[in-house]
Amino acid sequence: MKALIAVLPGDGIGPEVVAEGVRVLRAVAERFGHSFVFESAAIGGGAIDTEGEPLPARTLALCRRANAILLGAVGGPAWDKPGAAVRPEQGLLGLRRGLGLFANLRPVRVHPRLLAASPVKEERLRGVDLLVVRELTGGIYFGPSARDNGENGEVRAIDSCVYSSSEIARVVRVAAELARGRRRRLTSVDKANVLETSRLWREVATAIVRDEFPDVTLDHLLVDACAMELIRAPARFDVVVTENMFGDILTDEAAVLAGSIGMLPSASLGAAPDASAPRLGLYEPIHGSAPDIAGRGIANPFGTLLATAMLLRHSLGLHAEAAAVEAAVYATIDEGTLTADLVTKDERAASTSVVGERVTARVNTDAMSISTSNARATSSPAHETRRENARTDTPTISIT
Ligand code: IPM
Ligand code: MN
Repeated sequence: MKALIAVLPGDGIGPEVVAEGVRVLRAVAERFGHSFVFESAAIGGGAIDTEGEPLPARTLALCRRANAILLGAVGGPAWDKPGAAVRPEQGLLGLRRGLGLFANLRPVRVHPRLLAASPVKEERLRGVDLLVVRELTGGIYFGPSARDNGENGEVRAIDSCVYSSSEIARVVRVAAELARGRRRRLTSVDKANVLETSRLWREVATAIVRDEFPDVTLDHLLVDACAMELIRAPARFDVVVTENMFGDILTDEAAVLAGSIGMLPSASLGAAPDASAPRLGLYEPIHGSAPDIAGRGIANPFGTLLATAMLLRHSLGLHAEAAAVEAAVYATIDEGTLTADLVTKDERAASTSVVGERVTARVNTDAMSISTSNARATSSPAHETRRENARTDTPTISIT
């Protein structure tokens, strides 16, 4: 297959982790006989410096032409001045919104080798395999905001949270569809005891699942309780669907379960004619630009590498290839090739590029056996088996 992949390294550790993602995608192309063309463009703080805006028209145009977008991170102290007229984050938000990428998939799995890397007790981490579907183009991130003069002449700031029923319905559909390919349990998270948008969210989620997904079990959880349950009993969750800002906050929290925020990939998807159709998507690790460790070659590339697997699956429809990358990542974790954020005190840390090289080498050497056997069954940690068993003959899309 031929594919154009837009590469947006961005700021901080973005370029370092994206370089490893591209390396692994090149290996996949080579090994499986595909032709991937990579084109890079500026976004975020770097784009403000070189082109005067965080999302140059050229970058957006490239992304529209591409089959998929691989992004590192945006932001950093250089562009963080409180009064700044333009901010790096506007580049990322503009891209999400401009391309209509309303569904943000953030899978959280706990690899057995990384149990000790999490501060949460091991017995609570066993069996954790959850997927947060975060609404990405609405809510308080995109509602009207303003500053004006409040009473007594003081400055007042306003951010408004706005959701329409169709915005809620479409992301709930994506989440329910994904639940069908897993354990068929969907938790909708809101703050319906306080917020009107949350009451609408709950109404719409209830109706969609009742009318269109009777085989999926839906429950509702208030966001404060969800924050607690994610640490107290994380294995109870299958698919979680929630609005933009709750999803932002809960997924940083959920990353603690996986051992490091560097482990989590994400896929941002738009509408498609049917749930399993390949479509344009934006793939990024969730960790952000980490300016404090940028340029030192120690950043964790696993989140980006797992994001490339999601790219292969959701935008290119290459399922065996995606499974091969995931298998290579998990084997590399198993053998103990880990970055500084993952090692225990007496272990030696590997650099960003050594991890990327190991995963690439495994794609080159192990991929053949994977592509010829049942790719899904060999693709991920032990609890994958349980999910396989939970599957029925209903055709579904994959989870990550
Ligand atoms: C994320 C990030 C972004 C967000 C920032 C960089 C705008 O935190 O992708 O989770 O808040 O969505
Ligand atoms: Mn975030």
